[in-house]
Amino acid sequence: MPSQVFIVGTGGTIAGSAASSTDHVGYRAGAVGIDQLVAAVPALQGVPLAFEQLAQLDSKDMDFGTWARLARRVQALLNDPAVQGVVITHGTDTLEETAYLLHRVLKPAKPVVFTAAMRPATALSADGPQNLLDAVSVARTPGVQGVLMVFGGAVHRADRVRKVHSYQVQAFASPDGGPVALVESGSLRQLAPWPAGDGLGAERLPLEGAAWPRVELLWNAAGVDGAQVPLLMELARREGRRLGLVVAGTGNGTLANPLEAALREAQEQGVAVLRSTRCAAGPVIGGELPSAGALSAPQARVELLLQLLMK
Ligand code: SIN
Repeated sequence: MPSQVFIVGTGGTIAGSAASSTDHVGYRAGAVGIDQLVAAVPALQGVPLAFEQLAQLDSKDMDFGTWARLARRVQALLNDPAVQGVVITHGTDTLEETAYLLHRVLKPAKPVVFTAAMRPATALSADGPQNLLDAVSVARTPGVQGVLMVFGGAVHRADRVRKVHSYQVQAFASPDGGPVALVESGSLRQLAPWPAGDGLGAERLPLEGAAWPRVELLWNAAGVDGAQVPLLMELARREGRRLGLVVAGTGNGTLANPLEAALREAQEQGVAVLRSTRCAAGPVIGGELPSAGALSAPQARVELLLQLLMK
C-alpha cells in the first residue's frame, strides 16, 4: 500500500516572509523553505511525508521551464509505488494556470493537490498552515484522484478553479459548478466526481522556454481596433515561433467588429485563435471563432499553448 505524501514546494505567499506580522502585502513571496512550512504544522508530525523545493518563486514570475520541470517531477512521483499522493505549494496568482496545465498533461490515478495562501507565513493569522494540513489530508484520503486545489476548506477541480479576489482570504472559487469536496476537520465530504485528467504527457513539455510557442492574451473592450494582431504576427514571424492568440471577449465571448476581423484574418494565415470571456463566470456561447468553453482567459492561454505544443 502506498503511504507517503510527497510535498513539492514552488514558492508563493504561503512561503512569504514580511518584516511585521500585520503586513499582508509588503512581503517577499517564496522566501520560506518547504521544510519550515512543514515544520510549522505540528499536526503533520508523524505523518509519513517527504518534501522537496522544486522552485522558490513569486508565481507572477512562473515560467515555461519551471512548468515543464514540475510536470515531469509530479509524473515521476505518481509513478513511484511508495507515493500515495502529491501536494504542491504554489503562489495564488498563477495557480489556476499551473493546475490546469497539470490537469491536461497528467492522468493521475492518485491525488495531485495544489495549495497556497493569501497571507505570508509570518502573518499573525496565516492561512497557509491550515491549507497545507487540509491538502495533506486530501492527498492521504483513499480513492481521491486527479489534479485538485485545496483552499479555505474547499476542494476545487484544476480546470474550474479561479482566483476571484485580490486580497481576501477566501480568494478562490469554482464559479461554474462549485467545489468537488469540502474538508471538514480533516475529513473529506465529496460533492462531485473527481476529475480524470487528460494525460497529454508531461515529457512533451519543452524544458527550454524558447521552444514554447508565443501565445498572447488580448481583450475585447470599448474602442479596440485589433491593430496589435498584425504586429504580433510580425513579431512571431521574426522570432520563428508559432503564434496563438487568446481573446477574452465581452459577455458570452463577443468581439468588436475590427478585432474579430483582424483575428479572422490571422486565423486564415495560420494563427491559432481561441476565444474566452472576460466575465468572472460562465462559458463562451455561440460565435464562430473557436471557443475555450468555461476556462478563464489565463487557462485558455494554457490550453492554446498545449494545443500548439502537442500538434
Ligand atoms: C504568488 O502568487 O506567488 C504571490 C501571491 C500569493 O501567493 O498570494
